[in-house]
Amino acid sequence: MTNSTIKPDLSVRLGRLVLKNPVTVASGTFGFGSEYAEFYDVSELGAIFTKAITIDERTGNPPPRIAETPAGMLNSIGLQNPGLEQFLKEIVPEIKKINTVIIANVAGNCVEDYVRIASRLVEENAVDAVELNVSCPNVTEGGIEFGKSEKILAELTQQVVSHVTPMPVIVKLTPQVTDIARMAKIAEDAGASAISLINTLPAMVVDWRRERLHNGELLGGLSGPAIRPVALRLVKEVAQSVSIPIIGMGGICTLEDALQFFYVGAEVISIGTGNFINPTAPHDILTALREFLHQHQLPNITALRKYLHSPE
Ligand SMILES: Cc1cc2nc3c(=O)[nH]c(=O)nc-3n(C[C@H](O)[C@H](O)[C@H](O)COP(=O)(O)O)c2cc1C
Repeated sequence: MTNSTIKPDLSVRLGRLVLKNPVTVASGTFGFGSEYAEFYDVSELGAIFTKAITIDERTGNPPPRIAETPAGMLNSIGLQNPGLEQFLKEIVPEIKKINTVIIANVAGNCVEDYVRIASRLVEENAVDAVELNVSCPNVTEGGIEFGKSEKILAELTQQVVSHVTPMPVIVKLTPQVTDIARMAKIAEDAGASAISLINTLPAMVVDWRRERLHNGELLGGLSGPAIRPVALRLVKEVAQSVSIPIIGMGGICTLEDALQFFYVGAEVISIGTGNFINPTAPHDILTALREFLHQHQLPNITALRKYLHSPE
């Protein structure tokens, strides 16, 4: 076989899971998958991260709960979702029709909530992995976010891992900590199969003329290209501290953005806000990634990551 006929292998491992390629979509920005099916075949994605699932149904915060920001957006959705049992009954049969890895994003008020949700998902063989959204307040510990306390993060990860093994557990870190590399190591030591980052950054939009926001302000999470430089730095720090795979996200809209995340140590990339800017962004990035590997005669993603450090 000559070099020009090499067909690059885009597959990547996430613990015991094999993803057909490293292009995935981030929790909360892709619904449960079907919303984007009219734009492209979503089965081509490496994985779909569902929006957060909680035990009970949540209607979310009242509108307005989204605001545009320079190079990004602010959201205060409030984890709107149908609740665990409804998810199992109505959504799972639909997402199972999608021929790719499905990862459920799990949120809760206490450790038991996460364990209960993750255990039910395993019991029903509903998804391929769980991602713990640790940016939620722990009501049994005075409201501190799970991901902000070393002790609580370790306990949460250990508990969920012990109940769902061998299903992979991914811990999604909040950027709002002093030492994110340490939090990643704690999750790894507690049995996490992978780390994903970053979740949104707490931020605020002010509209004192009340043209768009009737309260004059909106508190929420900042995402999109505005947070990419922050995300890149944090992914690099985490990559230096753990040996489990990293799913990098924060403002990825193009292949060039994705390559920057591979460069700093991500094995897998996720597109979040980019889906709202361009609904075919994941498809476009995947197509461009395949072309890039082909053009540079790179046989796989490991070779790509090496190439990014010494291009020739
Ligand atoms: C509208 C919206 C809803 C989100 N919902 C969730 C969620 O339910 N669970 C979660 O872990 N992250 C959620 N996120 C965070 C994203 O998954 C992602 O971590 C973050 O937006 C950074 O990536 P991006 O800049 O590409 O959007 C949400 C983000 C947005 C914009």
